[in-house]
Amino acid sequence: MVRAVRKAMSMGAGLVLLVGSAYAAGPVKVPTIVTTTCSACHGLNGVSMVPTFPNLAAQGAPYLVKQIRDFQNHKRADPLAQSIMWAMAATIPKNKIHEIADYFASQKGAPGSPESAQLVAAGRKIYMGGVATDHLPACMACHGSTARGLPPLFPRLAGQHMTYVIAQLQAFKTKQRSNDPLAIMRTIAAKLSTKQMDAVAAYVRTL
Ligand code: HEC
Ligand code: HEC
Repeated sequence: MVRAVRKAMSMGAGLVLLVGSAYAAGPVKVPTIVTTTCSACHGLNGVSMVPTFPNLAAQGAPYLVKQIRDFQNHKRADPLAQSIMWAMAATIPKNKIHEIADYFASQKGAPGSPESAQLVAAGRKIYMGGVATDHLPACMACHGSTARGLPPLFPRLAGQHMTYVIAQLQAFKTKQRSNDPLAIMRTIAAKLSTKQMDAVAAYVRTL
């Protein structure tokens, strides 16, 4: 009898532990495919070491889901999408997309890093205020005043690698990347000079 009670109590305690851990706010479990595949380029925590590979940490989950789908159906077709991400996305089962997106979204964003003061100052001006004479809107309007993004549509840019940001702006400008709704980013990038792209990329890198 005593033994049975002890056993029941220990099972109960076990259950409480299980339930507790399942509901505890904390790091989301790393999906297997992230460990085996994605981490090689994007980092296990979504902070990449290579400037051509974007950070995914703290990126909005709906944006990540959209990009993975756009790679899968070849709607996002800039050169690095075609040469790398089409093949990677093809290995992601449809029922795992949300889990992967939630995992990266829950990771701590890459910390900002310093860039040339002159570029940063020029970039900040464009980011915060746009360029009225060119009818260029402020990036802030959609990407947020600290570039953390505004889910579901507008991605985080804070701390992103300059090389990657510039490559995307060039790809929007040449329309190689054309998966932006209503051609929003193609229209904006078309107004940006190479120098302005460098500046704004430097600014968001510092955030
Ligand atoms: C061999 C390196 C490599 C691997 C492995 C890789 N990626 Fe990528 N990933 C890239 C590159 C390069 C880009 C930029 C593509 C472009 O410019 O269009 C990218 C872009 C992305 C983006 C878009 C990010 C944004 O800000 O728009 C997502 C989402 C993504 N990868 C998810 C994944 C997932 C999930 C996996 C694992 C299944 C994975 N990647 C594996 C190299 C890689
Ligand atoms: C009117 C809203 C709007 C404004 C203003 C705007 N963006 Fe965007 N931007 C978007 C949307 C929407 C996307 C996501 C496109 C998609 O779904 O693929 C995006 C995507 C991007 C990306 C790609 C991010 C990634 O991870 O691949 C970059 C880089 C970018 N914007 C930079 C800028 C810069 C720099 C400015 C200011 C000069 C700017 N944006 C102004 C709406 C906007």
